[in-house]
Amino acid sequence: MISDIQTSRLPADAGVLVLAAGKGTRMHSPLPKVLQKLLDKPMLWYLLYMLSSTFNSRPMVVTGHGRSLVEQSCVGFDADFIFQEQQLGTGHALQVAWNKVLQHGFSWLVVINGDTPLAQSQQIRTLLEYTRENNADIGLVSLTLEDPASYGRVLRFADNSVKAVIEAKDYNSELDGGDTREINSGLYVFKVSTLGKILFELDSDNKQQELYITQLISLAQKSGMRVDALNAGTCPELMGINTPRELLGQEEYIRGFIVDEFIEQGVIIRSPGMVRIGPEVIIEPGAEICGPVEIYGQSRITSRSSIASNCYIEDSFIDGGQVFCFSHIEKSVIGPDTKVGPYARLRPGTEMQGGSRAGNFVEIKNSQVGAGSKINHLSYIGDTTMGEGVNVGAGTITCNYDGRLKHRTTVEDGVFIGSNTALVAPVLLQRGSMIAAGSTITRDVLQNSLGIGRSRQKNLEGRSPLKKFKNQEKSD
Ligand code: UD1
Ligand code: CA
Repeated sequence: MISDIQTSRLPADAGVLVLAAGKGTRMHSPLPKVLQKLLDKPMLWYLLYMLSSTFNSRPMVVTGHGRSLVEQSCVGFDADFIFQEQQLGTGHALQVAWNKVLQHGFSWLVVINGDTPLAQSQQIRTLLEYTRENNADIGLVSLTLEDPASYGRVLRFADNSVKAVIEAKDYNSELDGGDTREINSGLYVFKVSTLGKILFELDSDNKQQELYITQLISLAQKSGMRVDALNAGTCPELMGINTPRELLGQEEYIRGFIVDEFIEQGVIIRSPGMVRIGPEVIIEPGAEICGPVEIYGQSRITSRSSIASNCYIEDSFIDGGQVFCFSHIEKSVIGPDTKVGPYARLRPGTEMQGGSRAGNFVEIKNSQVGAGSKINHLSYIGDTTMGEGVNVGAGTITCNYDGRLKHRTTVEDGVFIGSNTALVAPVLLQRGSMIAAGSTITRDVLQNSLGIGRSRQKNLEGRSPLKKFKNQEKSD
C-alpha cells in the first residue's frame, strides 16, 4: 500500500546504515524504541521496507538494546546486523559499523536514525544527488520547525554551508549566534573516503557525555571539508520519534495517509478518522468500510465486500463477503456472498465458502464451512470439515479436544444439526443425516439417518413441587 516504491535503485556505490541500538528512555517502555508500532508494524519495518527497494545492497542495522528482539522483528528483510554492545552515542554507533562499511567498498554512506520511520526513498535520493553535485563531504537534511524542541540545531556560515550541528542540550542561543529554528533531521550522506579521517576523532566532551555523530560536522569543517544541508521545510515524514506523543503523532500521519490513498482509489471509507489500515493491506475499489475498524497484516479485501464498524481483521481474505459489526477475524477466508457476524469470531484457518453464514456469538477455528452452510447462533466449530448446505442449530459445539489431542469433525453435505448438540470428535455425520436437538454424538451417523443421543424424557404426573395450581381442576 505504501506507494513509495521506486522503479530504479540507487547506484551500488551507495550503502545505508540504520542506527537502531538506543533504548528510547523517553518512551518509558521495556520495548526497544524501534520496535514501537505504528499501526501493526514496528518503526523499523517501515524503514527496512523503504530501504530494501531503494538500495542495491542490504541495509546495515546497528542494534544494541534488545538486540535479539530487534533482529527477530526484521525477519523477511535481508538486513546486515552490527552489534553495538554499549550505546555510547550515535557517533559511536557509526564507529562500530565502520569496518563493515569499508568491507563493502562504498563511496557514499547514507546514515539514518532508526526512529525516523517514515522517511521516503525520494528524500534519500535527493540528498545523495545534492551532496554529490556539491562535491560535499557530508550532506544532511535539515528541517525548519516552529518549535525546535530537543533537536540538534543547524548553524550555517554566510555561504550557506554548514558550520555545526549543536545538540539541544548543549545549545546556547547567545553563544551560538541567535536562535535558529533549523534542525538536523538525522538523515546524512557521508563521503566514505574523507569520513575515515575524522570518524575516530570524536570525543564525549558534551552535556550527555556521548560520542555524537553530529560532532563530525565541526570536525569536517576544521579539516577543510565541505558540509551542506538540504532544507526540507517542515517535512512531517522526517520527524524523529522519542516520546509517546511523537509516536502517536507519526502514527496518525501514516494512518491518515493510507486511508486517504484508498479513498482516492475508490474505496468507500465511512468515518475515515477512525479507520486503521496496516501498510501491507490491499483493498480494491468498490469495497466499503465503516469506522471504527482495524485491518492489518496481509489482508486483502475485494470489491463488493463490506466491513461494518468495530471489526478487527488480520491476515484475512474477504472476497466479496459481508462482515457485520463487532466481528474478529484472523487468518481466515470469507468467500463471495458470505455473511459473518455481528459478534462472530473467526480464528486462524477458517474458510467460509460462498454464501455461507456465521452469525452472532459463533466461533470457528481451523475449519472449512461449505457453500451455503449456516451456523447462525451461539456455536463453537473447531477442526471441522463441513460440506455444503449444512444447517447447524443454535448452541452446537464441536468437542475437538480430549485433553491431550485435537480431533476432526466431518459434516457432509445437507446435514441438519439440531440445537444444543455436542459433537464429540473424531466423528462423522454422513450426507443428509439429521441430529436431534440436545444430542451428544459420539458415534458416526450414517447417510440419511437420524442420530439421537440423549436420555428419553419422562413426565411424572402430579409430581410438580409447585403448589399454586395443585387444587385447581384441570382445564380442558
Ligand atoms: C539525534 C541527533 C540530533 C537530531 C535528531 C533527529 C545526535 C547526537 N543527535 O538526536 O541532532 O536533531 O537525532 O531526530 O545524533 N542510537 C544508536 N546508538 C547509540 C545512540 C543512539 O544506535 O549509542 C540510535 C537510536 O536508536 C536512534 C538514533 O540513533 O534510533 C538517534 O538517537 P537518539 O538518542 O534518538 O538521538 P536524538 O537525541 O533524537
Ligand atoms: Ca531521536
